[in-house]
Amino acid sequence: MEVWFQDGNVEAIRRPPIPDEFVAMAIPISTDEDGRGNQVGILLLSIEGTGSVRSALTGTYTIYLKTSRSSFITTMNVNGNGLIIGGGGGIGRACVLAFARYGAAAVVVADVNLDAAVQVCEDSRTHATHPHFKAEPHAVDVTSRSSVDDLTAYATRLLGRIDYCVNAAGLGAETQREVADADPDEFARLLQTNVTGAFLVMKSISAIMKTQDARLNDTNSPARGTTRGSIVVIGSASSFSSGPGLMQYTTSKFGVLGLAKNSALDNAQYGIRVNCICPSWVNTPMVKQAVDNMPGLGEKINSTVPLGRIATPEEVADAVIFMSSPLSSYVTGSGFIMDGGTTLTSHT
Ligand SMILES: NC(=O)c1ccc[n+]([C@@H]2O[C@H](COP(=O)([O-])OP(=O)(O)OC[C@H]3O[C@@H](n4cnc5c(N)ncnc54)[C@H](O)[C@@H]3O)[C@@H](O)[C@H]2O)c1
Repeated sequence: MEVWFQDGNVEAIRRPPIPDEFVAMAIPISTDEDGRGNQVGILLLSIEGTGSVRSALTGTYTIYLKTSRSSFITTMNVNGNGLIIGGGGGIGRACVLAFARYGAAAVVVADVNLDAAVQVCEDSRTHATHPHFKAEPHAVDVTSRSSVDDLTAYATRLLGRIDYCVNAAGLGAETQREVADADPDEFARLLQTNVTGAFLVMKSISAIMKTQDARLNDTNSPARGTTRGSIVVIGSASSFSSGPGLMQYTTSKFGVLGLAKNSALDNAQYGIRVNCICPSWVNTPMVKQAVDNMPGLGEKINSTVPLGRIATPEEVADAVIFMSSPLSSYVTGSGFIMDGGTTLTSHT
C-alpha cells in the first residue's frame, strides 16, 4: 500500500486490488516514528462501494508512509476548544473571530455584557473554518469568584476539554491624575477587575486544566512535549513602564504580568503554559473612551509610537493565537511586548 501525506492529512491512497470505481477515504488516527526515521501510522480506511472487495479492505491498517514527514508544524493548529473571557468587545472579540478563522472546533464567549457575547458568537460563525464549529455565549463577572467558577464549570461541561483560555476582560484608566490627586475608588475598581479578576480566572481554569489529559503538542514530534492547555492574559506595555498620571492602570498591569509569571511557574509541571500579551495602544472601544476623556491623547498616540500608528485588535489576536498554538510549545511565562516600539527606550 502506498500512502501520501500532506500537512498531516492523507491525500491519496492506492492499493492494487481497489478498482477505480471504489472511492477510498483514509483518516490518520495516529502517527509516530519507528526508530529508523520512518513515520508509522494507524490509518482508518473506509472504502465506498459494494461487495466483497469492500468487506475485504475496510478496516484499520498499520501503514508506513512513503515519504518521511518533517517534524515542522506548518499551521497554527488551534483546532481545539477555546474559552475567551471579555470576548464581547475589543481585543477579546478579535480573539474569538481569530480562533474561528484559524480552525477552532468550539468557543465559549464570556463577558459581563451578555448581549455583546451573543453578537460575537453570531459573528464568529461567519468566520469559522472548522466544519463543526460551535460558539456559545455566557455571562460572567470576573470580579466574582462564584461567577468565574460557574463559567469554567459550564465551559467544561459543554466542551469536555478547554485547550485555550484567553482572559481579555479589563478596565482602562478613567482619569489621568498625578498620584497626589489619584482617585482611590478608581484605583480599587481597576485592581478589582484587572488583577483580582485575572487571578480568579487563572485559579479556576488552572484547577480544571490540571485534570485534563496530557496530549502531544505535535503528534509528529514527541520531542515538543505534552500539553494540558494554554492560558493567555492581556497585560499591557504598562506592565513594563509607567505613564504620567496613570498610576492606577500601571499598578494593575504590573500585577497582571506578575500573576502570569507566577502561574506559569506553578503550572509548568502540568504542561499548562501561561503567557501575557502586552500591547500598547490598540484601536478598541476602551481606547476610544480614553481618547474622549483625555484631551490630546489621540495625537499623543500617533506621535509617540515609533511605527507611527495604533495597533489593530486583530494584530493582538494573532499574537494570542500564536501563544495558544503548539508553535509556541516552549514559551511560558513571557510578557510579550507588542507596542510598535513604544517602550523601546524605557526597558532593556
Ligand atoms: N485597547 C488598548 O489599547 C489596550 C492596550 C493594552 C492592553 N489592553 C488590555 O486589553 C484588555 C482588553 O481591552 P480592550 O481594549 O479590548 O477593552 P474593551 O473595553 O474594548 O473590551 C473589554 C471587554 O471586557 C469586558 N469586561 C469588562 N469588565 C468585565 C468583567 N468584570 N467581567 C467580564 N467581562 C468584563 C467588557 O464588557 C468588554 O467586552 C484589557 O485588559 C486592557 O487593559 C488594552
